[in-house]
Amino acid sequence: MLKLGIVGTAGFFLPGDNTSGTPRNAPGQFQVPLRIPPQLAPKRTDAATDYYEINIRPAQVDILPGKRTTIWGYDGMFPGPTIRARSGRTSIVRQINNLPVETNVHLHGGAVAPEHDGGMHEMIAPGSFRDYVYPNNQIASTLWYHDHSMHRTAQNVYMGLAGFYLIEDSFEARLNLPSGEYDVPLMLQDRLFNGDGSFNFPAHNHEGINGDTILVNGVPQPYFQVAQRTYRFRILNASNSRHYELALSNGQPFPSGRRPFLTLPQPMLQIASDGGLLSAPVPRPTIAIAPAERVEVVIDFARYPVGSQIILKNKLGRGATADVMRFDVTRKTTDTSRVPAVLRPITPLDGAVVTRDFELSVNREGMWVINGLPFDHQRVDARPKLGSTEIWNVINRSNVPHPFHIHLVMFQILDRNGAKPPAGEAGWKDTANVGPLETVRLIAKFNGFTGKYMFHCHNLHHEDHMMMLQFEVVS
Ligand code: C2O
Ligand code: CU
Ligand code: CU
Repeated sequence: MLKLGIVGTAGFFLPGDNTSGTPRNAPGQFQVPLRIPPQLAPKRTDAATDYYEINIRPAQVDILPGKRTTIWGYDGMFPGPTIRARSGRTSIVRQINNLPVETNVHLHGGAVAPEHDGGMHEMIAPGSFRDYVYPNNQIASTLWYHDHSMHRTAQNVYMGLAGFYLIEDSFEARLNLPSGEYDVPLMLQDRLFNGDGSFNFPAHNHEGINGDTILVNGVPQPYFQVAQRTYRFRILNASNSRHYELALSNGQPFPSGRRPFLTLPQPMLQIASDGGLLSAPVPRPTIAIAPAERVEVVIDFARYPVGSQIILKNKLGRGATADVMRFDVTRKTTDTSRVPAVLRPITPLDGAVVTRDFELSVNREGMWVINGLPFDHQRVDARPKLGSTEIWNVINRSNVPHPFHIHLVMFQILDRNGAKPPAGEAGWKDTANVGPLETVRLIAKFNGFTGKYMFHCHNLHHEDHMMMLQFEVVS
């Protein structure tokens, strides 16, 4: 059952892991250096707003050795360029669609007006553009932007339409966490490739896709040369369906044949979840991350001698998918950053006035549904009052996990099957994994905007095959 996402309903083709060694087309592991998506500079700025422009277009990029892969990318890049926004300053992002299909853009984790949220009626036709207004009235956090087309999100994101959107604020800056080149976003994705290097998007994919090649920032199982100091990593699971359980290796044999340095197992220090900093850092020997979730960690490479190679493992993977990337400690340097024992206070939400149940299941036609209903943009499934707090019971009646995502709000997890969430989940979240037959209680305050927003499973194949409903915040 833990072959996540591929335990299926009868009749579906089940794309599986390649469990036997290296995928046909991939380079050897840790052969290619990590790339870090470039930061997008604003076209212009004024007193309150930064104006960006992105050209969404097909491009040919190098992913596999000696092959070219056609992607659809923001500015032709895979992943897209990173936007670093400032809390309290508006960003206006002009998205120009030069794809052969219509698209739209959703800022995942952003509290934005409904018409800028990437809804189904806000498509950008090929050859035209749309200006998305993001007020950034929220705390520092790691968000991301991606396509949100009806029935086509899975394919469009698979083609490359995803990028980081980081919000910074002065509170976080004052903490003096690792920054600049030591603050590194890592986008985890998996793909299947055809022999010619093109992405293989299986025709029957209602269950999801677990690709046999793990990519970090679009690079297959890269290595990353690090200095002997602390780094902040903003880890995003931007995979269509794949779940990971991350852990650092220790003293394992390395492919290069180099004798490993024996060090004690090192936990990662988790400092943030989807919606920003935790109240205090949490040492995590392993970290589960479901599609669309973000986890920020600090790793202290000062504990390892120069020459060490530390593998970021995926304990849910097998064969080639059991490794994500490798950190090579190559040099000494100074480090004036620190991770304070107290990060950002989090006030528990309370005072819920409404409780709602949402049951996740598969119906007789094999469609993924919530409360028995497929998505219908004409129908409103919940009407929270502006400024009110609600508890949502998300009940998984199926035997596969569903990463449950709510637009507009950051919520808190009250409990999982009645038990308090672990410390790494006791912060601001916009996506919560709901395991097979699990019930997760969420609490959220619906403020900021009135209007219609989506909530859905973030296995993009479930989302496309209708595991999505709509709420409307009403005044
Ligand atoms: Cu990241 Cu509605 O999505
Ligand atoms: Cu979202
Ligand atoms: Cu799902």
